[in-house]
Amino acid sequence: MANDRRPDDMVRITTPELADAFIEEQIKALKEQVGDKKVLLALSGGVDSSVVAALLIKAVGQQLVCVHVNHGLLRKGEPEQVISVFRDQMKANLVYVDATDRFLDKLAGVTDPETKRKIIGGEFIEVFAEEARKLDGIEFLAQGTIWPDILESEKGIKAHHNAGGLPEDMNFELVEPVKILFKDEVRVVGERLGLPANMVYRQPFPGPGLGVRCPGAITRDRLEAVRESDAILREEFAKNGLEGKVWQYFTVVPDFKSTGIKNGERSFEWVVIIRAVNTTDAMTATVENIPFELMQHLVDRITKEVKGVNRVLYDFTPKPSGTIEYE
Ligand code: XMP
Repeated sequence: MANDRRPDDMVRITTPELADAFIEEQIKALKEQVGDKKVLLALSGGVDSSVVAALLIKAVGQQLVCVHVNHGLLRKGEPEQVISVFRDQMKANLVYVDATDRFLDKLAGVTDPETKRKIIGGEFIEVFAEEARKLDGIEFLAQGTIWPDILESEKGIKAHHNAGGLPEDMNFELVEPVKILFKDEVRVVGERLGLPANMVYRQPFPGPGLGVRCPGAITRDRLEAVRESDAILREEFAKNGLEGKVWQYFTVVPDFKSTGIKNGERSFEWVVIIRAVNTTDAMTATVENIPFELMQHLVDRITKEVKGVNRVLYDFTPKPSGTIEYE
C-alpha cells in the first residue's frame, strides 16, 4: 500500500518529473493492492475521477471497469468526451449508462432545491449500484478522494466519500490513488497521463450539474436552453482568452418568461442569466469584468441560437450577498 496520509515533508508536485515519479510509484502500489482482481470506478469526467481512471488503466488495464452515468444534467459534449477519451483513446473498459429519462422523470415537478439535490444524489447511487450488481467479481471500488477531502472530513466540514451511501452488502475495498494530492497536483499528474487540457483544467462543476442552473422544477426545454447557452458561453470565453482565467462561468435559465420581439413579431420567452466569478476558495467571490463588446456578442448569439430565449442578463452580484450557484 502507498502512503495513507500525506507525508509532512512531501514536495509539492509542480513539475513533469515529480508527476512522473508519483505516477510510477502509484502504478506499482496499485498493482500490488489490486493483484488480478477487478476494480469499479464511477467516472464522471471530472478531474479527480479521470486521473484515477487513467492511473488504473495504466496499472491494471482491463481489470478496471469504469461506469459513466449520464444523469441528463451534464454539459454539452461531456458524455461524448468521456467516451472518446476513455473508451476510444485509452481503451478502457467503460460502461456508459444513459439514465437521462430516469432522472428527469423523478425530478419532474420538484421545485425545492434540497429535494432536487437529494433525488439526483440518491438516484445516482441507485443507478451505479444496479450497474455494479450486473458485474461479477468486483472486489475494489476506486474513488477520486483528494487530500483536502480528507482534511475537511477530519474537521467535520463534510463527508468525503463520493460513493459513500452504496448499499451495505456492497462492501468493496477502497482504492484511492490520489488521496494524498492537492487539486493542483492532480492536474499536473493528469497532464502527464495524457488527459486533454480541457478535462484537466476544467472549471468546477457541481455534482447536481445543470439541475441547479435550471431553478425550480426542471423542464426539458429550459434544461436545453441552459445547456446550449452554457456551450456558447464556454466557446466564447475560450476564443477570447478567458478560459482558465475566470474561475467559474455558466448560465442560468430561471422559471419565468418576458416579452420581446423576434422576426418582427411579439415573443414571450425565457431569460438567460450569465454568471462569471473569481475566487480562491469559493467562500467569497467577485464578478468578472466582461468586456462590453464580448457581452454584446454573447447576447446576439444566445438570443439567435438558443431556442425559446429572447433576453440575456448579466449577474453583477458578488458572494456575498449571492452564492455562486442559484440554488
Ligand atoms: P455556492 O453556490 O455555494 O458554490 O457559492 C460554491 C462552489 O461549490 C459548487 N457547488 C457544488 N458542488 N455539489 C457540488 O459538487 C453541489 O451541490 C454544489 N453546490 C455548489 C459551486 O459550483 C461553486 O463552485
